[in-house]
Amino acid sequence: MAYETIIVEVEDHVATIRLNRPDALNALNSELLGEVCQALKEADGNDKVRCIIITGSQKAFAAGADIKEMSDKSYVDMFMSDFFGTEGGTIGRTRKPIIAAVAGYALGGGCELAMMCDFIIAADNAKFGQPEINLGVIPGLGGTQRLTRFVGKSKAMDMALTGRFMDAEEAERSGLVSRVVPAKQLMEEARAAAEKIAEKSMISTIACKEAVNISYETTLSQGLLFERRAFHALFNTEDQKEGMGAFMEKRSAQFRDR
Ligand code: CAA
Repeated sequence: MAYETIIVEVEDHVATIRLNRPDALNALNSELLGEVCQALKEADGNDKVRCIIITGSQKAFAAGADIKEMSDKSYVDMFMSDFFGTEGGTIGRTRKPIIAAVAGYALGGGCELAMMCDFIIAADNAKFGQPEINLGVIPGLGGTQRLTRFVGKSKAMDMALTGRFMDAEEAERSGLVSRVVPAKQLMEEARAAAEKIAEKSMISTIACKEAVNISYETTLSQGLLFERRAFHALFNTEDQKEGMGAFMEKRSAQFRDR
């Protein structure tokens, strides 16, 4: 499908969705978010794709929701369109792993989009922030909830109340990002991680993603039970026999998603 605000490439088993509104630092307007959702649905439904990367440019992953699009809206406009409600739901329902490869600004909705991905690899020039407070609003795409879970209340409050930016080093130290790499190597690193994920059984990959995500939604004992049952269920797959058999035969596993 032809897109106006994103560029989608599928290479080997990896779909890369590049946000592409350079004149607006990839600000997330309705069109762009709608296209990201469509591309995610297509990648999720494409048997060839086994991992997805969302990225932006060297200067900006995304500098937030599009302020120009939102500025004249009323409460009723926002409420009746459930602004960002549908998009947030679609991204959250993507079953295949999504890596955010973040260089430059990841602010407001940009930081929130990165946090909706399964993990974040940051370039050393990345800057994260929830500066909505400077606009007379608050984060609206999950920032108050997800940032708090990632970095704890004190730092989330600091970020959201002052609107200050966090650099890549602080983001890694705080648990917001999984790794920091030199900006020039960002895509190479993200692609290598995606290809590593693509080698696994898609059944255990999806089960693993679901189990980690459940940890945000439930109690420890319920989460442990969910994990254990998913672990048990994987013993009904050919891929479990192949994975464990390959280990014992000292060869690499050839998973077939069965
Ligand atoms: N929405 C719309 N346009 C944006 C934008 C945004 N969030 N961020 C940047 N742009 C536009 C600028 O208006 C500018 O366009 P023009 O050339 O037409 O004026 C262009 O992108 C380049 O931006 P700057 O000239 O400002 O670039 P800079 O390098 O001087 O500054 C910046 C970069 C610090 C990121 C600055 O652009 C900035 O502060 N942007 C806004 C960040 C922000 O407040 N984000 C939160 C948005 S609200 C939100 O996201 C709500 C939510 O939770 C869902």
